[in-house]
Amino acid sequence: MASAARKLQLNPVDPENLLNPVPFYKELRENDPVHWSDVVHGWFLTRHEDVMNGLRDSRLSADRGKVLEHQFQMMGLSPESIREVTDTFKRQMACKDGAAHLKPRRQTAAAFAPQVLDSWRPLIHRTLVTHLDKLRDRREADLVPELFYQMPPLVIAELLGITPEDRERLQQWGEAVTQLTSTGAAKNLMEVARQANEGQARINQFLTNLVEERRRAPGEDLISHMLRAQEQGGMTTEEVVANTSLLLAAGHLTTTDQLSNGLYELLTRPEQLALLRREPSLLKPAIEEMMRFAPPVPFVHRIAVDNIELRGRTIRKGDIVFLGLAAANHDPAAFKDAEYFDISRDPHQQKSMSFGFGPHHCLGAGLARRELEIAFSELVHRMPEMRLDAAKLPRIKCGGLLFRGFESLPVRW
Ligand code: HEM
Repeated sequence: MASAARKLQLNPVDPENLLNPVPFYKELRENDPVHWSDVVHGWFLTRHEDVMNGLRDSRLSADRGKVLEHQFQMMGLSPESIREVTDTFKRQMACKDGAAHLKPRRQTAAAFAPQVLDSWRPLIHRTLVTHLDKLRDRREADLVPELFYQMPPLVIAELLGITPEDRERLQQWGEAVTQLTSTGAAKNLMEVARQANEGQARINQFLTNLVEERRRAPGEDLISHMLRAQEQGGMTTEEVVANTSLLLAAGHLTTTDQLSNGLYELLTRPEQLALLRREPSLLKPAIEEMMRFAPPVPFVHRIAVDNIELRGRTIRKGDIVFLGLAAANHDPAAFKDAEYFDISRDPHQQKSMSFGFGPHHCLGAGLARRELEIAFSELVHRMPEMRLDAAKLPRIKCGGLLFRGFESLPVRW
Protein backbone atom coordinates (compact mmCIF):
# COMPACT_ATOMS: atom_id res chain seq x y z
CA MET A 1 0.00 0.00 0.00
CA ALA A 2 2.58 2.56 1.07
CA SER A 3 5.88 1.31 -0.15
CA ALA A 4 7.24 4.05 -2.41
CA ALA A 5 8.80 6.56 -0.05
CA ARG A 6 10.78 6.09 3.11
CA LYS A 7 8.64 4.45 5.77
CA LEU A 8 9.11 5.55 9.36
CA GLN A 9 8.72 2.92 12.05
CA LEU A 10 6.79 5.09 14.45
CA ASN A 11 3.89 3.98 16.55
CA PRO A 12 1.24 6.73 16.85
CA VAL A 13 -0.41 5.02 19.82
CA ASP A 14 2.80 4.34 21.72
CA PRO A 15 2.12 5.78 25.22
CA GLU A 16 5.29 7.89 24.94
CA ASN A 17 4.00 9.50 21.72
CA LEU A 18 0.54 10.06 23.21
CA LEU A 19 1.96 11.66 26.35
CA ASN A 20 4.64 13.75 24.68
CA PRO A 21 3.49 14.09 21.06
CA VAL A 22 5.35 17.20 19.80
CA PRO A 23 8.60 15.37 18.86
CA PHE A 24 6.51 12.70 17.13
CA TYR A 25 4.65 15.34 15.11
CA LYS A 26 7.97 16.98 14.14
CA GLU A 27 9.49 13.69 13.03
CA LEU A 28 6.50 12.93 10.80
CA ARG A 29 6.13 16.47 9.44
CA GLU A 30 9.79 16.65 8.46
CA ASN A 31 10.47 13.09 7.29
CA ASP A 32 7.22 11.39 6.32
CA PRO A 33 4.39 13.96 6.05
CA VAL A 34 2.06 11.42 4.42
CA HIS A 35 2.74 8.53 6.74
CA TRP A 36 1.19 5.06 6.61
CA SER A 37 0.94 3.35 9.98
CA ASP A 38 0.76 -0.44 10.04
CA VAL A 39 -0.10 -0.23 13.73
CA VAL A 40 -3.22 1.92 13.38
CA HIS A 41 -3.83 0.87 9.81
CA GLY A 42 -4.28 4.42 8.56
CA TRP A 43 -2.56 7.42 7.02
CA PHE A 44 -1.25 10.36 9.06
CA LEU A 45 -1.09 13.87 7.56
CA THR A 46 0.87 16.32 9.71
CA ARG A 47 1.75 19.39 7.61
CA HIS A 48 -0.49 22.42 8.07
CA GLU A 49 -1.13 22.79 4.35
CA ASP A 50 -2.09 19.11 3.94
CA VAL A 51 -4.32 19.08 7.01
CA MET A 52 -6.16 22.22 5.90
CA ASN A 53 -6.62 20.90 2.36
CA GLY A 54 -7.67 17.49 3.68
CA LEU A 55 -10.42 19.02 5.82
CA ARG A 56 -12.06 20.57 2.77
CA ASP A 57 -11.41 17.72 0.34
CA SER A 58 -14.66 16.03 -0.70
CA ARG A 59 -12.70 12.84 -1.46
CA LEU A 60 -12.24 12.47 2.30
CA SER A 61 -15.59 11.50 3.78
CA ALA A 62 -16.59 12.24 7.36
CA ASP A 63 -18.70 9.09 7.54
CA ARG A 64 -17.23 7.97 10.84
CA GLY A 65 -19.91 5.34 11.29
CA LYS A 66 -18.22 3.55 8.39
CA VAL A 67 -14.77 4.37 9.80
CA LEU A 68 -15.79 2.96 13.16
CA GLU A 69 -17.25 -0.21 11.67
CA HIS A 70 -14.04 -0.66 9.68
CA GLN A 71 -11.81 -0.10 12.73
CA PHE A 72 -13.83 -2.43 14.91
CA GLN A 73 -13.86 -5.08 12.24
CA MET A 74 -10.05 -4.88 12.23
CA MET A 75 -10.16 -5.38 16.00
CA GLY A 76 -12.43 -8.41 15.69
CA LEU A 77 -15.80 -6.84 16.65
CA SER A 78 -18.85 -7.74 14.58
CA PRO A 79 -20.89 -4.83 13.11
CA GLU A 80 -23.95 -6.19 15.00
CA SER A 81 -22.27 -5.88 18.38
CA ILE A 82 -21.89 -2.10 17.97
CA ARG A 83 -24.96 -1.43 15.80
CA GLU A 84 -26.58 1.12 18.16
CA VAL A 85 -23.35 3.16 18.37
CA THR A 86 -22.57 3.15 14.66
CA ASP A 87 -26.17 3.87 13.61
CA THR A 88 -26.32 6.87 15.97
CA PHE A 89 -22.98 8.13 14.64
CA LYS A 90 -24.17 7.79 11.06
CA ARG A 91 -27.21 9.99 11.79
CA GLN A 92 -25.10 12.79 13.30
CA MET A 93 -24.11 15.84 11.25
CA ALA A 94 -20.45 15.23 12.11
CA CYS A 95 -20.60 12.03 10.03
CA LYS A 96 -22.42 13.44 7.01
CA ASP A 97 -21.03 14.85 3.79
CA GLY A 98 -22.23 17.44 1.28
CA ALA A 99 -25.93 18.33 1.15
CA ALA A 100 -26.84 15.70 3.78
CA HIS A 101 -24.51 17.54 6.17
CA LEU A 102 -25.66 21.06 5.34
CA LYS A 103 -29.28 20.47 6.34
CA PRO A 104 -28.78 19.51 10.02
CA ARG A 105 -25.81 21.88 10.31
CA ARG A 106 -27.86 24.92 9.23
CA GLN A 107 -30.78 23.95 11.42
CA THR A 108 -28.62 23.56 14.52
CA ALA A 109 -26.41 26.57 13.78
CA ALA A 110 -29.22 29.08 14.46
CA ALA A 111 -29.08 28.12 18.13
CA PHE A 112 -25.33 28.97 18.19
CA ALA A 113 -25.61 32.51 16.73
CA PRO A 114 -23.38 35.08 18.55
CA GLN A 115 -26.29 36.95 20.16
CA VAL A 116 -27.78 33.67 21.45
CA LEU A 117 -24.35 32.66 22.79
CA ASP A 118 -23.96 36.01 24.55
CA SER A 119 -27.31 35.51 26.26
CA TRP A 120 -25.83 32.32 27.80
CA ARG A 121 -22.88 34.13 29.41
CA PRO A 122 -24.64 34.61 32.79
CA LEU A 123 -25.46 30.88 32.92
CA ILE A 124 -21.84 29.93 32.16
CA HIS A 125 -20.58 32.41 34.74
CA ARG A 126 -23.01 31.24 37.41
CA THR A 127 -22.10 27.57 36.82
CA LEU A 128 -18.39 28.31 37.13
CA VAL A 129 -18.63 30.56 40.16
CA THR A 130 -20.85 28.08 42.04
CA HIS A 131 -18.07 25.50 41.74
CA LEU A 132 -15.24 27.94 42.40
CA ASP A 133 -16.93 29.20 45.56
CA LYS A 134 -16.94 25.65 46.94
CA LEU A 135 -13.15 25.54 46.55
CA ARG A 136 -12.40 29.06 47.69
CA ASP A 137 -11.80 28.44 51.40
CA ARG A 138 -9.45 25.58 50.70
CA ARG A 139 -5.81 25.98 49.73
CA GLU A 140 -5.58 23.06 47.31
CA ALA A 141 -7.67 21.06 44.82
CA ASP A 142 -7.42 18.72 41.88
CA LEU A 143 -9.08 20.98 39.32
CA VAL A 144 -9.83 18.25 36.78
CA PRO A 145 -12.42 16.28 38.78
CA GLU A 146 -13.46 19.20 40.97
CA LEU A 147 -14.01 21.88 38.35
CA PHE A 148 -13.20 21.01 34.75
CA TYR A 149 -15.28 17.81 34.66
CA GLN A 150 -18.20 19.72 36.21
CA MET A 151 -18.63 22.96 34.32
CA PRO A 152 -18.88 22.16 30.54
CA PRO A 153 -21.30 19.21 30.88
CA LEU A 154 -23.53 21.21 33.22
CA VAL A 155 -23.57 24.13 30.79
CA ILE A 156 -24.46 22.06 27.71
CA ALA A 157 -27.04 20.02 29.64
CA GLU A 158 -28.72 23.19 30.89
CA LEU A 159 -28.75 24.64 27.36
CA LEU A 160 -30.49 21.47 26.20
CA GLY A 161 -32.94 21.71 29.12
CA ILE A 162 -31.67 18.52 30.84
CA THR A 163 -31.74 18.40 34.65
CA PRO A 164 -28.46 17.80 36.59
CA GLU A 165 -29.70 14.34 37.76
CA ASP A 166 -30.55 13.21 34.24
CA ARG A 167 -27.28 14.67 33.02
CA GLU A 168 -25.35 12.41 35.41
CA ARG A 169 -27.16 9.33 34.15
CA LEU A 170 -26.51 10.32 30.54
CA GLN A 171 -22.85 10.89 31.33
CA GLN A 172 -22.50 7.43 32.87
CA TRP A 173 -24.18 5.78 29.89
CA GLY A 174 -21.91 7.75 27.54
CA GLU A 175 -18.62 6.80 29.20
CA ALA A 176 -18.21 3.43 27.46
CA VAL A 177 -19.13 5.06 24.13
CA THR A 178 -16.30 7.57 24.56
CA GLN A 179 -13.92 4.81 25.54
CA LEU A 180 -14.88 2.75 22.53
CA THR A 181 -14.61 5.57 20.02
CA SER A 182 -11.22 6.94 21.14
CA THR A 183 -8.88 4.72 19.13
CA GLY A 184 -6.53 2.49 21.06
CA ALA A 185 -7.99 3.35 24.45
CA ALA A 186 -10.06 0.25 25.12
CA LYS A 187 -8.29 -2.64 26.81
CA ASN A 188 -11.17 -5.05 27.36
CA LEU A 189 -12.67 -4.36 23.95
CA MET A 190 -15.57 -6.85 23.84
CA GLU A 191 -16.91 -5.75 27.20
CA VAL A 192 -16.44 -2.05 26.40
CA ALA A 193 -18.31 -2.59 23.11
CA ARG A 194 -21.18 -4.32 24.93
CA GLN A 195 -21.43 -1.50 27.48
CA ALA A 196 -21.13 1.18 24.79
CA ASN A 197 -23.91 -0.33 22.73
CA GLU A 198 -26.17 -0.65 25.77
CA GLY A 199 -25.28 2.88 26.93
CA GLN A 200 -26.07 4.36 23.52
CA ALA A 201 -29.44 2.56 23.45
CA ARG A 202 -30.34 4.08 26.84
CA ILE A 203 -29.22 7.55 25.76
CA ASN A 204 -31.33 7.27 22.60
CA GLN A 205 -34.40 6.12 24.53
CA PHE A 206 -34.02 8.96 27.06
CA LEU A 207 -33.55 11.59 24.34
CA THR A 208 -36.48 10.28 22.28
CA ASN A 209 -38.76 10.80 25.30
CA LEU A 210 -37.30 14.26 25.83
CA VAL A 211 -37.83 15.22 22.18
CA GLU A 212 -41.47 14.07 22.38
CA GLU A 213 -41.90 16.18 25.52
CA ARG A 214 -40.45 19.26 23.79
CA ARG A 215 -42.67 18.67 20.84
CA ARG A 216 -45.68 18.96 23.18
CA ALA A 217 -44.28 21.92 25.12
CA PRO A 218 -41.52 23.76 23.26
CA GLY A 219 -39.26 26.24 25.04
CA GLU A 220 -36.11 28.25 24.33
CA ASP A 221 -33.69 25.32 24.74
CA LEU A 222 -31.55 23.88 21.95
CA ILE A 223 -33.80 20.88 21.33
CA SER A 224 -36.83 23.14 20.81
CA HIS A 225 -34.75 25.18 18.33
CA MET A 226 -33.93 22.02 16.40
CA LEU A 227 -37.60 20.95 16.44
CA ARG A 228 -38.75 24.28 15.06
CA ALA A 229 -36.35 23.77 12.17
CA GLN A 230 -37.72 20.24 11.78
CA GLU A 231 -41.21 21.65 11.28
CA GLN A 232 -39.86 23.48 8.24
CA GLY A 233 -39.20 20.11 6.64
CA GLY A 234 -35.86 19.29 8.19
CA MET A 235 -34.54 16.63 10.53
CA THR A 236 -36.44 13.52 11.56
CA THR A 237 -36.90 12.73 15.27
CA GLU A 238 -34.11 10.16 14.99
CA GLU A 239 -31.81 12.83 13.56
CA VAL A 240 -32.70 15.31 16.31
CA VAL A 241 -31.95 12.59 18.89
CA ALA A 242 -28.63 11.72 17.25
CA ASN A 243 -27.56 15.37 16.99
CA THR A 244 -28.56 16.06 20.58
CA SER A 245 -26.41 13.10 21.57
CA LEU A 246 -23.59 14.68 19.52
CA LEU A 247 -23.97 18.06 21.27
CA LEU A 248 -23.87 16.38 24.69
CA ALA A 249 -20.66 14.54 23.84
CA ALA A 250 -18.98 17.31 21.82
CA GLY A 251 -19.82 19.95 24.42
CA HIS A 252 -18.19 18.10 27.27
CA LEU A 253 -14.81 16.39 26.92
CA THR A 254 -13.31 18.83 24.44
CA THR A 255 -13.85 21.89 26.64
CA THR A 256 -12.97 19.95 29.81
CA ASP A 257 -9.66 18.84 28.27
CA GLN A 258 -8.89 22.31 26.89
CA LEU A 259 -9.34 23.82 30.34
CA SER A 260 -6.75 21.44 31.83
CA ASN A 261 -4.35 21.62 28.85
CA GLY A 262 -4.46 25.43 28.86
CA LEU A 263 -4.06 25.85 32.60
CA TYR A 264 -1.10 23.46 32.62
CA GLU A 265 0.69 25.51 29.92
CA LEU A 266 0.09 28.71 31.90
CA LEU A 267 1.14 27.31 35.27
CA THR A 268 4.37 25.88 33.87
CA ARG A 269 5.27 29.33 32.44
CA PRO A 270 5.02 31.79 35.35
CA GLU A 271 6.16 34.73 33.18
CA GLN A 272 3.24 34.19 30.77
CA LEU A 273 0.80 33.83 33.65
CA ALA A 274 2.12 37.04 35.23
CA LEU A 275 1.75 38.81 31.88
CA LEU A 276 -1.89 37.70 31.60
CA ARG A 277 -2.60 38.96 35.13
CA ARG A 278 -1.05 42.34 34.31
CA GLU A 279 -2.74 42.65 30.91
CA PRO A 280 -6.36 41.39 31.03
CA SER A 281 -6.74 42.46 27.38
CA LEU A 282 -4.55 39.45 26.50
CA LEU A 283 -7.27 37.04 27.63
CA LYS A 284 -8.58 36.26 24.13
CA PRO A 285 -5.15 35.88 22.49
CA ALA A 286 -4.05 33.76 25.47
CA ILE A 287 -6.96 31.38 24.94
CA GLU A 288 -6.22 31.10 21.22
CA GLU A 289 -2.60 30.30 22.08
CA MET A 290 -3.57 27.67 24.66
CA MET A 291 -5.75 26.09 22.01
CA ARG A 292 -3.07 26.23 19.33
CA PHE A 293 -0.35 24.87 21.57
CA ALA A 294 -2.21 22.11 23.42
CA PRO A 295 -5.46 21.24 21.68
CA PRO A 296 -7.80 18.60 23.13
CA VAL A 297 -8.50 17.03 19.72
CA PRO A 298 -5.06 16.13 18.29
CA PHE A 299 -6.43 14.26 15.28
CA VAL A 300 -9.70 13.97 13.37
CA HIS A 301 -10.24 11.12 10.96
CA ARG A 302 -11.82 10.61 7.57
CA ILE A 303 -12.28 7.83 5.06
CA ALA A 304 -11.04 8.16 1.45
CA VAL A 305 -13.85 7.72 -1.08
CA ASP A 306 -11.47 8.03 -4.03
CA ASN A 307 -7.76 7.51 -4.68
CA ILE A 308 -5.68 10.55 -3.69
CA GLU A 309 -2.13 11.27 -4.81
CA LEU A 310 -0.24 13.32 -2.24
CA ARG A 311 3.50 14.00 -1.99
CA GLY A 312 4.34 10.88 -3.97
CA ARG A 313 2.09 8.54 -1.97
CA THR A 314 -1.25 7.03 -2.97
CA ILE A 315 -4.05 7.11 -0.44
CA ARG A 316 -6.45 4.46 -1.71
CA LYS A 317 -10.21 4.49 -1.71
CA GLY A 318 -11.37 2.98 1.60
CA ASP A 319 -8.24 3.98 3.57
CA ILE A 320 -8.59 5.81 6.88
CA VAL A 321 -6.81 9.16 7.10
CA PHE A 322 -5.88 10.87 10.37
CA LEU A 323 -5.54 14.64 9.98
CA GLY A 324 -3.12 16.04 12.55
CA LEU A 325 -4.67 19.23 13.95
CA ALA A 326 -2.10 19.48 16.74
CA ALA A 327 0.79 18.66 14.39
CA ALA A 328 -0.43 21.39 12.00
CA ASN A 329 -0.57 23.85 14.91
CA HIS A 330 3.14 23.24 15.52
CA ASP A 331 4.17 23.55 11.88
CA PRO A 332 6.84 26.26 11.46
CA ALA A 333 5.61 26.77 7.88
CA ALA A 334 2.36 28.18 9.34
CA PHE A 335 3.46 29.73 12.66
CA LYS A 336 6.51 31.81 13.44
CA ASP A 337 8.41 30.30 16.39
CA ALA A 338 5.78 27.55 16.45
CA GLU A 339 7.43 25.74 19.38
CA TYR A 340 7.10 28.77 21.68
CA PHE A 341 4.05 29.34 23.81
CA ASP A 342 3.36 33.06 23.53
CA ILE A 343 0.07 34.53 24.73
CA SER A 344 0.74 37.80 22.94
CA ARG A 345 0.74 36.11 19.53
CA ASP A 346 -1.65 38.03 17.24
CA PRO A 347 -4.85 35.94 17.11
CA HIS A 348 -5.75 37.44 13.71
CA GLN A 349 -2.60 35.86 12.27
CA GLN A 350 -3.61 32.51 13.76
CA LYS A 351 -4.35 29.64 11.43
CA SER A 352 -4.94 27.26 14.27
CA MET A 353 -6.65 24.00 13.33
CA SER A 354 -7.92 23.27 16.85
CA PHE A 355 -11.59 23.75 15.94
CA GLY A 356 -11.07 22.02 12.60
CA PHE A 357 -11.59 23.74 9.27
CA GLY A 358 -13.99 23.68 6.33
CA PRO A 359 -17.53 22.29 6.38
CA HIS A 360 -17.21 20.55 9.76
CA HIS A 361 -15.55 23.47 11.56
CA CYS A 362 -16.66 23.19 15.20
CA LEU A 363 -20.25 24.34 15.57
CA GLY A 364 -19.68 24.94 19.28
CA ALA A 365 -16.52 27.08 18.88
CA GLY A 366 -18.33 30.23 20.04
CA LEU A 367 -19.72 28.48 23.10
CA ALA A 368 -16.35 26.88 23.91
CA ARG A 369 -14.53 30.23 23.57
CA ARG A 370 -17.01 31.90 25.94
CA GLU A 371 -16.64 29.10 28.48
CA LEU A 372 -12.83 29.31 28.29
CA GLU A 373 -12.84 33.11 28.57
CA ILE A 374 -15.07 33.10 31.63
CA ALA A 375 -13.16 30.25 33.29
CA PHE A 376 -9.65 31.63 32.71
CA SER A 377 -10.64 35.16 33.64
CA GLU A 378 -12.02 33.95 36.99
CA LEU A 379 -9.16 31.52 37.67
CA VAL A 380 -6.43 34.05 36.94
CA HIS A 381 -7.94 36.93 38.89
CA ARG A 382 -9.73 35.21 41.77
CA MET A 383 -6.86 32.91 42.58
CA PRO A 384 -3.74 34.98 41.88
CA GLU A 385 -1.57 32.67 43.99
CA MET A 386 -2.46 29.55 42.05
CA ARG A 387 0.45 27.24 41.21
CA LEU A 388 1.01 23.54 40.48
CA ASP A 389 1.12 21.47 43.66
CA ALA A 390 4.83 20.55 43.88
CA ALA A 391 4.05 17.53 46.08
CA LYS A 392 1.76 15.88 43.51
CA LEU A 393 2.30 15.06 39.84
CA PRO A 394 -0.18 16.15 37.17
CA ARG A 395 -1.33 13.17 35.13
CA ILE A 396 -2.19 13.18 31.42
CA LYS A 397 -4.88 10.65 30.52
CA CYS A 398 -4.20 8.22 27.73
CA GLY A 399 -7.20 9.03 25.56
CA GLY A 400 -5.95 7.54 22.31
CA LEU A 401 -5.40 9.63 19.20
CA LEU A 402 -8.60 11.63 19.24
CA PHE A 403 -8.63 13.18 22.73
CA ARG A 404 -5.89 14.66 24.88
CA GLY A 405 -6.25 16.16 28.34
CA PHE A 406 -5.32 15.72 31.99
CA GLU A 407 -6.96 13.29 34.37
CA SER A 408 -5.39 15.04 37.33
CA LEU A 409 -4.09 18.60 37.78
CA PRO A 410 -3.42 19.25 41.49
CA VAL A 411 -2.91 22.94 42.34
CA ARG A 412 -2.43 25.11 45.44
CA TRP A 413 -3.22 28.79 46.04
C1 HEM B 1 -16.84 19.71 15.47
C2 HEM B 1 -13.12 20.79 18.42
C3 HEM B 1 -16.24 22.37 21.79
C4 HEM B 1 -19.93 20.94 19.00
C5 HEM B 1 -15.56 19.89 15.97
C6 HEM B 1 -14.34 19.64 15.25
C7 HEM B 1 -13.31 19.92 16.09
C8 HEM B 1 -13.86 20.38 17.34
C9 HEM B 1 -11.83 19.75 15.79
C10 HEM B 1 -14.25 19.18 13.79
C11 HEM B 1 -14.29 17.69 13.70
C12 HEM B 1 -14.02 17.17 12.31
O1 HEM B 1 -13.70 17.92 11.38
O2 HEM B 1 -14.12 15.96 12.14
C13 HEM B 1 -13.65 21.33 19.58
C14 HEM B 1 -12.86 21.88 20.66
C15 HEM B 1 -13.74 22.33 21.61
C16 HEM B 1 -15.08 22.06 21.11
C17 HEM B 1 -11.35 21.93 20.68
C18 HEM B 1 -13.48 22.97 22.94
C19 HEM B 1 -12.38 23.60 23.28
C20 HEM B 1 -17.51 22.14 21.32
C21 HEM B 1 -18.74 22.50 22.00
C22 HEM B 1 -19.77 22.07 21.22
C23 HEM B 1 -19.20 21.48 20.03
C24 HEM B 1 -18.81 23.21 23.35
C25 HEM B 1 -21.26 22.19 21.40
C26 HEM B 1 -21.94 22.07 22.40
C27 HEM B 1 -19.41 20.48 17.82
C28 HEM B 1 -20.21 19.94 16.73
C29 HEM B 1 -19.32 19.58 15.73
C30 HEM B 1 -17.98 19.90 16.20
C31 HEM B 1 -21.73 19.80 16.72
C32 HEM B 1 -19.68 18.94 14.36
C33 HEM B 1 -19.87 20.03 13.35
C34 HEM B 1 -20.14 19.49 11.96
O3 HEM B 1 -19.92 18.31 11.70
O4 HEM B 1 -20.61 20.27 11.12
N1 HEM B 1 -15.25 20.36 17.23
N2 HEM B 1 -14.97 21.46 19.88
N3 HEM B 1 -17.85 21.54 20.13
N4 HEM B 1 -18.08 20.43 17.46
FE1 HEM B 1 -16.55 21.03 18.63
